[in-house]
Amino acid sequence: MAPDLPTVIAIDGPSASGKGTIAVAVARHLGFHYLDSGALYRIVGLVGSERGANLDDDREISHITLNLKVKFEGDRVFVDGREVSDPIRGEAAGAAASRVAALPGVRSALMALQRSFRQPPGLVADGRDMGSVVFPDARLKIYLTATADERARRRHKQLIDKGSGASMATLLQDIRDRDFRDSTRAVAPLLKCIDAIEIDTTGTPVDVVVAQVLQLYQKAQQKTQ
Ligand code: C5P
Repeated sequence: MAPDLPTVIAIDGPSASGKGTIAVAVARHLGFHYLDSGALYRIVGLVGSERGANLDDDREISHITLNLKVKFEGDRVFVDGREVSDPIRGEAAGAAASRVAALPGVRSALMALQRSFRQPPGLVADGRDMGSVVFPDARLKIYLTATADERARRRHKQLIDKGSGASMATLLQDIRDRDFRDSTRAVAPLLKCIDAIEIDTTGTPVDVVVAQVLQLYQKAQQKTQ
């Protein structure tokens, strides 16, 4: 890592593997900034759908992406001055996100914005390609997984807690489709970097995983001192 750049912890993994929850808790514990890169792809998917754009057209969607003004305020997200915190969390925005995320122009259009989150004293970034593409020099790379059944159960609970519902079978299918698209696309596919440490979170409480990540970070820090 270049000595003058703030440290990064990259947390990658498939949909609903717990990345967001773990990354937020780790960032809070260390007093670091937090980047939810999935929210950016969700915003592009949402806005593209709202404008009736062709979600598979790289030129059209990249153009939209480059002209978006995105702002995060805590866990609230705004695009062009409008709050989109709720709509981007829906299943439709998630599915649209995974389509636009396969477009190379969209991925490069989001690169500078993602890297701008790297500010002192450090950053915890979650996504699919944080360790492989956006922050390849991250101090610590974590690859979080959980079985597809467990991830569908978590998504189901999230939706119930929010007062909406969906069948487990539909959610499981959605997760499998998204995994397939994310891991087989040509650009920045979801993969575990060789230098990432894999943590399977199936059946493990959040605080245990958070403690594990913090311990790994401490070890990584000691190695570089
Ligand atoms: O993480 P989340 O489920 O919010 O991400 C939504 C979608 O955005 C993912 O299914 C994936 O296709 C895409 N994504 C990506 N690269 C990232 C983060 C998200 O391709 N770094």
